[in-house]
Amino acid sequence: MARTILLLFLPLFLFFVLPTSFAAPVITYNVLNYGAKSVPSFDSTQAFMAAWTHACGSTNPATIYIPPGRFLLRNVIFRGPCKNNAIVLHMDGTLVAPFDYKVIGNAEQWILFEDVNGVSIYGGVLDGQGTNLWACKRDGRSCPTGAKSLGFRGSENILISGLTSLNSQMFHIVFDGCNTVKVKGVRVSAPGNSPNTDGIHVGKSSGVSIFDSKIGTGDDCISIGPGTTNLWIENVACGPGHGISIGSLGWELQEAGVQNVTVKTVTFTGTQNGLRIKSWARPSSGFAKSILFQHAVMTNVDNPIVIDQNYCPDHKNCPNKASGVKISGVTYQDIHGTSATEVAVKFDCSSTTPCTGIKLEDIKLSYRSKAAKASLP
Ligand SMILES: *[C@@H]1O[C@H](CO)[C@@H](O)[C@H](O)[C@H]1NC(C)=O
Repeated sequence: MARTILLLFLPLFLFFVLPTSFAAPVITYNVLNYGAKSVPSFDSTQAFMAAWTHACGSTNPATIYIPPGRFLLRNVIFRGPCKNNAIVLHMDGTLVAPFDYKVIGNAEQWILFEDVNGVSIYGGVLDGQGTNLWACKRDGRSCPTGAKSLGFRGSENILISGLTSLNSQMFHIVFDGCNTVKVKGVRVSAPGNSPNTDGIHVGKSSGVSIFDSKIGTGDDCISIGPGTTNLWIENVACGPGHGISIGSLGWELQEAGVQNVTVKTVTFTGTQNGLRIKSWARPSSGFAKSILFQHAVMTNVDNPIVIDQNYCPDHKNCPNKASGVKISGVTYQDIHGTSATEVAVKFDCSSTTPCTGIKLEDIKLSYRSKAAKASLP
């Protein structure tokens, strides 16, 4: 009899308890309590995984705390979905990839978050230790592709604030299939001759914004892949690097387009390109439309404004067809500074699907103190 009463009252009890649990304090999971050690050869991967498992399984908001120190991590996937949608990684320390690039070089990602909702990363440093892998690639030896340092896949409501990413083996920060992402005050740093070390790559994602960041690297500072919509980039300094690039697009025959991209108040210093749209020269359903490039300052940039629909960086096995990627509605507004080459504006559009609605307003680019030239279609 007593048992029956208890069961009857249980739902009522839950009803009254649940609302108060929303006000419950954030639970902090310190990685040291899960066995992480700031010791050069100590592998803290399992400890970080254990802290994640607890934070992700918590029904209360959770903070994973990474104290000052250098923590060695192998490739790791932090998987959702989680039981709460407010997980903070509070990083006062540095995460270090294995010195031997072969350990993670064939894993696509070093640190990957997958299917998570409501993850924020504050502070911290990622050290990808890419130097030896780049040397291998530059020597033309047979090397692994390299791991991208930090990735989010199939995730939403992501915030990255005040993070530093150094010397990634490959791309530094990647968003693939994500919704509603804010990146703020991030610094990316790798040498100008490090291969494929894109700063931030956005693909198949919507509602990503990138603010107040400084990116110096050996490839694109920001690259924007197929299927990206509603992207906002503001107050970003790029250099060294290959600029801010939409593309490369049009590798696939069936490909999602890029739409509604705003890039404003950006600087390029000594970069190979400034504002670039690039596509391979082959048939494709891809497109780029409703793009605004506004308030950019170029300092000694090789190609400040460029649309290249015959993109083929190594000039090897180039498709040599006409690009099917339709580029339309692109506005360049208030772009000024210096070009390192005579032709500062170059539009090499597709012969079969020509660019339309390209607007240039208030463009002032000089080459050796004279007005630079434009090469139009
Ligand atoms: C374009 O994207 C921005 C965010 O970058 C968004 O605020 C705006 O509503 C989008 N515009 C359209 C027409 O979807």
